[in-house]
Amino acid sequence: MRNIYLCGFMGCGKSYTGRKLSEKLGCTLVDLDAYIEEKEGRTIPEIFAQDGEPHFRELEAKYIREMPGNSVVATGGGAIINPVTAETARNAGTIVFLDADFELCYDRIKGDTHRPLVMNNTKEQLLELFNKRRKIYLEHSDFSVDSNRDETEILDMILKGIK
Ligand code: S3P
Repeated sequence: MRNIYLCGFMGCGKSYTGRKLSEKLGCTLVDLDAYIEEKEGRTIPEIFAQDGEPHFRELEAKYIREMPGNSVVATGGGAIINPVTAETARNAGTIVFLDADFELCYDRIKGDTHRPLVMNNTKEQLLELFNKRRKIYLEHSDFSVDSNRDETEILDMILKGIK
């Protein structure tokens, strides 16, 4: 199986859907954020605070190359925005955009101290980022699924899309 890379805004359900999808397909799930934290021996807030966001984007571009085959990869919300990172993913598999409404995402992420962008931006700024990124997720992904739906429907749409 070629890899499946899940992308989309923070809180769209990449990790949760990734886990369910990998269970259904009987394959490995890799969480890119968790992989980076393990390799770097630091948390994402620490990486942002110590080295800045541009460095984190370089780490995403670097470590996405190390994803094993036969896997579902839950990427971080900004990873696939970077054309270099997106190209690596596209060459190794299919990029699926989990397209959820801003309010749904925001309800899940607000106040989260493990997400630097949430800590450092207002709701209005996050909405602006959401709108800007949404166009890029659409451009960089192979297909998108309406992720405001329930879990079973989301999984079915992904499975249909990768056939
Ligand atoms: C980020 C999303 C986060 C994490 C980092 C930056 C982003 O992952 O990679 O905090 O730029 O949207 P999640 O999408 O899993 O929250």
